[in-house]
Parts: sequence; C-alpha cells; structure tokens
Amino acid sequence: MSLERTLSIVKPDGVRKNVIGDVFHRFEKAGLRIVAARMMQLTQAQAEAFYGVHRARPFFRDLVSYMISGPVMVQVLEGEGAVLKNRDVMGATDPKKAAPGTIRADLADSIEQNVVHGSDSADNAAREIAFFFSETELCPR
Ligand code: CMP
Repeated sequence: MSLERTLSIVKPDGVRKNVIGDVFHRFEKAGLRIVAARMMQLTQAQAEAFYGVHRARPFFRDLVSYMISGPVMVQVLEGEGAVLKNRDVMGATDPKKAAPGTIRADLADSIEQNVVHGSDSADNAAREIAFFFSETELCPR
C-alpha cells in the first residue's frame, strides 16, 4: 500500500443531521488524517461540474438539487491506501447494502441521501481534490 489522498464530502443530509464529528471520528479511527477541510454551499454550476460524469444518468437532476440543498463539508483525507480505506469506512452507496458499522449503514437514509461522498479511484481523487483545493491548502503531516 502507498500513501494516498482522497476527496471526501459530508453531504447536506449529514450536515443537517449534525454528524460531521461522528464522520470525522470514523475517518481518524481508521487511520485517515484530515489534511484540508472547508464547509461551503455548492452552487448549481459547481454541483453539475463535480458530478459531470453522471450527467446522463436518470438521477442526475435530483442529485444536483440535493447537493445544493444545504451546506456540505469537503475534506481531503490522507493515509496508507486512503482511497479504498475511505470507501470501506463509508460502506456501499446504497445504505441498505452497506456493511454494518459503516457510515452509510449507520447514518444514511437512502441511496441519494447517503451522508458521504468519497473518490472511487486514485485518478478521480486527484481530479476531485483539485476541484476544491489548491496544493498550498493541503497540510500533510
Ligand atoms: P456518490 O458516491 O456521491 O456518487 C454519486 C451519487 O449519486 C451517489 O453517491 C448517490 O448519492 C447518488 N445516487 C442517486 N441515485 C443513485 C443510483 N441509483 N445509483 C448510484 N448513485 C445514485
């Protein structure tokens, strides 16, 4: 395994449920370090661009509306094998299929309102991190 970074978002439902600290604690317990973080309200253009890969999917419009329905917390996680580790901590996209003890199994309500986003590959992580943060905003340690 190698030292990696991945992009994580606590989505509007996670912020509304007041579980940012719970989610961050799960990252830290798994050995992931938060090296950048920002709370922000996404614009429609930002949400459409971020999820551009899903533009043709039937859920795209609803996904964008939901992602701009309230503030999100965006962070960069660093650690050994961070991309896969974060996906393990999050659990499957659909909370009904997520393993017990994962963020989505414990905290999410539906496949859309699933509390967290995490990059699905090292290539996408690099693209998604650059979407939100400049290199100088990252604080590796
Ligand atoms: P995320 O990991 O952020 O990536 C795309 C998001 O689309 C996904 O989490 C879900 O929140 C959302 N989504 C809504 N419906 C679906 C669906 N049927 N399949 C996959 N993702 C969906």
